[in-house]
Amino acid sequence: MVERNELAERLNRAADALRRRIGARRPTIGIILGSGLNPLAEKIEDAAFVPFREVPFMRQSTADGHVGRFVCGDFAGVCVLAMQGRLHGYEGCSAVDVAFPIWLMNRLGIRQLVTTNAAGAVNAAYQVGDFCVMNDQINLTGRNPIANLDAAGLAERFFSMLDCFDPRLRAIAREAALETGVRVQEGVYLGVLGPSFETRAEIRAFRTLGADTVAMSVCEEVIAARHVGMSVLGMSLITNMACGIQGSSPNEEEIRDVGASREDAFEALMRAIVPRMAGEAFCAPGV
Ligand code: HPA
Repeated sequence: MVERNELAERLNRAADALRRRIGARRPTIGIILGSGLNPLAEKIEDAAFVPFREVPFMRQSTADGHVGRFVCGDFAGVCVLAMQGRLHGYEGCSAVDVAFPIWLMNRLGIRQLVTTNAAGAVNAAYQVGDFCVMNDQINLTGRNPIANLDAAGLAERFFSMLDCFDPRLRAIAREAALETGVRVQEGVYLGVLGPSFETRAEIRAFRTLGADTVAMSVCEEVIAARHVGMSVLGMSLITNMACGIQGSSPNEEEIRDVGASREDAFEALMRAIVPRMAGEAFCAPGV
């Protein structure tokens, strides 16, 4: 159990440190860049780079291809705070560790979050290289960041997860897909702890449960963001068919290669999405 006062104090200290490093920049959108999608951070202009390890109480990411730093600056005319790499349960981070940077973003005044990842397709109609906007999630990580803290005072303990991915942001992503011509699916995301990939039987079971995609991140971040009233857009790059689908046996190399091959498409989508998001008026309570 993390005590309420202790968590608030940690967030205050982390926010002070991050504010000092980003100077006069005032980010309004948070972006989490997942596996293979980290290179987008290089496109952020007038950027301040802050390694996670230089922010008090932040864990450093250890996953391959996850740089592990905040990048704050201008993207498509909007001041954003990107996480170039994320924290995962499978690398020994607690659910609160995973949630921490989301609450930190919220402390800095960010009310909109785009969380991205690489995912396997459970839906056999999807194709490798497609993007998939999450329209709902199934959290099978067995973890929930709110369960591990004295949440009273930070925000309500019980809160709705209905439309946890904001319908207005999903509509924006659909518009961006039309504008850019990039293939974007919309489906249910299922999160597992990992790091083992799933078995064939698990993937069959996940399909029966209603999942379209599967990966090892995102769910806890979305819960943390909704807990404090942030609006969330979730988007996966389909890097592989999930285990057993079309004979697939997922591997890291394939995931990396597909990420690299879709860098430009991802950038085009994000350049269409971010300014539209900034144009939306959202009203969400802060922590
Ligand atoms: N399963 C779990 N995580 C993943 C996958 C997958 O097939 N692809 C990318 N991340």
